[in-house]
Amino acid sequence: MFEYIGYNSIENLKRILKSESFKNIFLITGRKSFANTKIKELIYNSLEDVEFFRFYDFTPNPKIEDIEKGLSLFQSDNYDVIIAVGGGSVIDMGKCISIFSTNKGTSESLVLKENPIMKKGVPLIRIPTTSGSGSEATHFAVVYIKNNKYSLAEPNFMQPEYVIVDPQFSYDLPKRITAYSGMDALTQAIESFWNINSTPESKNYSEKAIKLVMENLLDSVVNPDKKSRLNMAVAANYAGKAINLTKTTACHAISYPITSYFNVPHGHAVALSLPPMIDYNSNVNKDDVLDSRGVKFVKESMKELISIIGASNALKAKGVVSQLMKNIDLETKLGELGIKTDEDIDVIIKNGFNPERVKNNPRKIDENQLRMILEEIR
Ligand SMILES: [Fe+2]
Repeated sequence: MFEYIGYNSIENLKRILKSESFKNIFLITGRKSFANTKIKELIYNSLEDVEFFRFYDFTPNPKIEDIEKGLSLFQSDNYDVIIAVGGGSVIDMGKCISIFSTNKGTSESLVLKENPIMKKGVPLIRIPTTSGSGSEATHFAVVYIKNNKYSLAEPNFMQPEYVIVDPQFSYDLPKRITAYSGMDALTQAIESFWNINSTPESKNYSEKAIKLVMENLLDSVVNPDKKSRLNMAVAANYAGKAINLTKTTACHAISYPITSYFNVPHGHAVALSLPPMIDYNSNVNKDDVLDSRGVKFVKESMKELISIIGASNALKAKGVVSQLMKNIDLETKLGELGIKTDEDIDVIIKNGFNPERVKNNPRKIDENQLRMILEEIR
């Protein structure tokens, strides 16, 4: 794998294109996040010697229709590489077009696993710009089909091949996007840490990510300097590497309907249930533990996590995370985001409570417990 992280690492893009003889490029970017920014300038400079077409006509949290639009544009010419420059949605779009263009079956049948992914996609260069999703480091992509979230995932054929993480790309990011993207990184790192699939390797990535976020997120939002931007870009990448090994847990499962039905951005939606989940998972007991390593292991893990967060007990850790959200101007209650009625809560429970998706959580959650967690943040 080619992975370049740090200031000016974008200079490696030209080098990759040359050494791999990539000449006709399918460039995927965000819309507003790309126009008139430093990102555009840096990318266009790197592409001055090659042909490229730019695709940006899609909304965040890509729907299958958007991906098919991109796929047919991709197939209309002989592109030899895809470069995805943007947040998680843009990089996920790149993964989908890359895989759909080389594998048999419709996009939908591949997402729904009616057809298996049998081979690698078109080469994909992943360039994240939001210091959040960590999507550059994972082998899965989020796809929405009719408001339902699916995961296109393949551990053998979707691992990163070319990654460039340059903190310069976060310069033009609005404060609010920096804030909720950073919370995505934190939530992912924490969910990976308490995950039933955690390993010493994944926990090491998580720990590094959590510490970097706790020390740099506030600065990167209110007073961004070179150091905090670099540290947040690195944190997001570590968090991505952590969930690449473990996947996510309850906070992500609960977030998908909050995003698809109520338009709350992904990073903000996952962070809402993070404080109560810290408390909930700390109170694991022998009757509801899901981790095969047992209740003692999970309790120890939660203690370790709480100390990494910088608190002395679960309630304090919960407070630290809520306060961090408030300090970076993110609402911590569903009501502040227009999710108010009993019906709204039912929508989240009905669509976010999928046993398949919460099975990685160390403590079992039933519908009543999920309702209690949502009531707490209502
Ligand atoms: Fe996420």
